[in-house]
Amino acid sequence: MHMLGVDIGGSGIKGCLVDTKTGELIGERHRIATPQPATPAAIAHTLKALVEHFDWKGPVGCGFPATIHNGIAKSAANIDKSWIETDAEHLFADVTGKPCYVLNDADAAGLAEMRFGAGKDRKGVIILITVGTGIGTAVFVNGHLLPNTELGHLMLEGMVAEHYCSDAVRKREDLSWGRWGKRFNKYLARLEFLFSPDLFILGGGSASKLEKFVDRIETRAPLIPAASLNQAGIIGAALYAAEQQG
Ligand code: BGC
Repeated sequence: MHMLGVDIGGSGIKGCLVDTKTGELIGERHRIATPQPATPAAIAHTLKALVEHFDWKGPVGCGFPATIHNGIAKSAANIDKSWIETDAEHLFADVTGKPCYVLNDADAAGLAEMRFGAGKDRKGVIILITVGTGIGTAVFVNGHLLPNTELGHLMLEGMVAEHYCSDAVRKREDLSWGRWGKRFNKYLARLEFLFSPDLFILGGGSASKLEKFVDRIETRAPLIPAASLNQAGIIGAALYAAEQQG
């Protein structure tokens, strides 16, 4: 089955058609800059433009950077605060005219990696971490997702973890990969203490840079890059839509 998967982020809204049987992208990915301010109406209209770009007539899966409960956004750490309590699924469906299925962006990336990528056929406790503007997490136990874990908001060194070691912080503070890696190692150590995972999977932009800081990582559980790197969110969103369709 083909499905349109969309990854809604703070700087870009990216979509592609996905073969949900194989997890492969079909054709070219398309990216539109996230409108600013990124209000619900502005994002919904950008999503509509993306759907029209693909001339897509079917359902749409969307990864979204917030806690999503039954299609409703419940948090807004790095997006416009007006998202809180917005029914994203209904809004997107109204504006695009297509059924839309919305889930947390890190959960979407996790679904893709567990089905086709770095977590395929792996049992035990697996934590996928996406590092970008914020830090998102997806926790799996024997392949089952515990949704909306929000472990990027743990307190670390007296601050919210994503304010200490996100990719945005690395850039803003001009940290070397080594110095940033030391911070990230502290974050992983905290997750390891709390959850005793068997594996960490790293997604987001930093996944392709792992060799630059892997020497700073001292956790017992291995840290490996997401197999589909930055595309996992798109693939997982498409998988989610396919599942919801039944
Ligand atoms: C949000 C999460 C999201 C993560 C990555 C965090 O700030 O709270 O919901 O998964 O950023 O986008």
